[in-house]
Amino acid sequence: MGKIAPSILSADIAKLSEDIEMLEESEADWIHIDVMDGHFVPNLTFGPNIVEAVKRYTNKFLDVHLMVEEPDKMIDSYIEAGAHGLSIHAEATKNIHQVMQKIKENGLKAGVVINPGTPVSFIEPILSMVDLVLVMTVNPGFGGQEFLTDMLSKIEELDQYRTENNANYLIQVDGGINNETIQTCYQAGADIFVAGSNVFGADSPVEQIKTLKKLVN
Ligand code: DX5
Ligand code: ZN
Repeated sequence: MGKIAPSILSADIAKLSEDIEMLEESEADWIHIDVMDGHFVPNLTFGPNIVEAVKRYTNKFLDVHLMVEEPDKMIDSYIEAGAHGLSIHAEATKNIHQVMQKIKENGLKAGVVINPGTPVSFIEPILSMVDLVLVMTVNPGFGGQEFLTDMLSKIEELDQYRTENNANYLIQVDGGINNETIQTCYQAGADIFVAGSNVFGADSPVEQIKTLKKLVN
């Protein structure tokens, strides 16, 4: 059973509370919050105060995706803000193992993220201890980009690896997810599907979430 995680990057920030209330009533499983620092990616979005604010309008799992340099210095403030899961780019820190450990010690789901140019082998040493692996299916920074089909083999590799090695991380995909690409990712072994423009660009986001969910169940 796949989980849907709408990304509020594509929400209307001026009326964010309404969009969160809409998601709260919808079949969305998680709420995906994209933090960008203008350095790791060429775009600037939210800080920990948005996580805190979103939390006031929903009880759903808050899935925070940190696209920042030196994430080691920032995770405390997101833990304090009430995130349920924190995903960190393997490319952004020299201490990925330590960062994952710290997130887990605080009782949050620890996720490691790999960019399109990063192979699965780069994170193999930590695959036995992470709760989630996020495979970027676009280059991070912006919503509305086209899905990179070449990333499907990474999902298959991660799915096979966890079976062969008794690991129990979830596989998440992020970028370019729509009614077609969600099915190919699901068949490749993905469990959690982030969707931004596809959900918030729909006439009825609630109906679109329902449609996506049906496609992975
Ligand atoms: C991209 C972000 C995504 C983004 C996806 O850097 O990590 O979460 O919101 O947007 P869509 O679904 O429009 O590709
Ligand atoms: Zn994201």
